[in-house]
Amino acid sequence: MEARIQSVKSSAVEECSKIESLAQLQQLWVKYLGKKGEVTQLLRSMGSIPADQRPVVGQMVNQLKVELEQLYEQKEAELEKQIQQKRLQEEALDITLPGRKPKIGSLHPLTLVLNEIKQIFISMGYQAVEGPEIELDYYNFEALNIPKDHPARDMQDTFYITEDFLLRSHTSPVQIHVMERQDPPVRIIVPGKVYRADSDLTHSPMFHQVEGLLVDAGITFADLKGTLEAFAKAMFGPETRIRFRPSYFPFTEPSAEVDVSCIICRGTGCKVCSNTGWLEILGSGMVDPRVLEKVGYDTEKVSGLAFGMGIERVAMLKYGINDIRLFFTNDQRFLHQFK
Ligand code: FA5
Ligand code: MG
Repeated sequence: MEARIQSVKSSAVEECSKIESLAQLQQLWVKYLGKKGEVTQLLRSMGSIPADQRPVVGQMVNQLKVELEQLYEQKEAELEKQIQQKRLQEEALDITLPGRKPKIGSLHPLTLVLNEIKQIFISMGYQAVEGPEIELDYYNFEALNIPKDHPARDMQDTFYITEDFLLRSHTSPVQIHVMERQDPPVRIIVPGKVYRADSDLTHSPMFHQVEGLLVDAGITFADLKGTLEAFAKAMFGPETRIRFRPSYFPFTEPSAEVDVSCIICRGTGCKVCSNTGWLEILGSGMVDPRVLEKVGYDTEKVSGLAFGMGIERVAMLKYGINDIRLFFTNDQRFLHQFK
């Protein structure tokens, strides 16, 4: 019996030393200490041992059981430690690696340009206001001296919603909204989206304008020229030249379109300015007295200047962009250049 106990012990110790996983250890437990395990069988066979030896042998088997239990616990602790160390190694952070920079967004070039335009006019005493993008035909056209069937309606290819409602084709209707609710003096700029059925390299069906309106006593064409020249120099640099080209708008008289000397080629001619050296950025003029009368202003006392510029055109000129569609296709390679 003693020899059996010894052999169970030594084979358990031997097998235990070869164990590499908790699952194997569990099998070892079953084999020696489980219900049908070796030690349990030894205990069961106690009955066949002569009574006088039983206490001594029983003592030895119990001793074996305690030893094997300890062996099991030690091995278990050892294996758990190994597993944890392995995990720590595998999940180790290399803090010397350079970090991954999160991509930070940037303001859209049109927002940047609009902010600059606003800042320039606000510093001249203008106030920024906004108006509706869905407009009554009355404000978009009629109040601006463009009656129904007037040929000037063809100048702006308009998206109609119903016969009376449309997507505004310019920011000029906001002139009327403001003058209807406010007496002179008026000194506003109106940034916003406008819509036209128009699409190519320099025209987009949705684009942005900034309207300007100044109505006060004694406003003349000289004020218009001075204001727009000051704006162009502030926006594009002190060497910038502007050119007034006689034009026609039903709501201004006289009217002029304003070109800016191309800042890409400095006026010598390039792709951006179609080799003319100039780029049109806005329409302008002295507010037609008929428009002022319609909102109840006394044209003996006040006169006004107005202009409407395309923000995309200003941005194209400022950044040397030759395709207006780049602003709206959300290509990150394009947008990230304006940080
Ligand atoms: C007008 O829209 C007039 N309301 C401007 C005005 C206001 C005149 C106040 C007098 C007094 P025009 O259609 O020319 O005018 O447009 C003005 C500017 O908007 C153009 O000079 C151009 O810079 C820009 N623009 C016009 N159409 C488009 C388009 N499809 N895509 C991008 N920009 C455009
Ligand atoms: Mg025009």
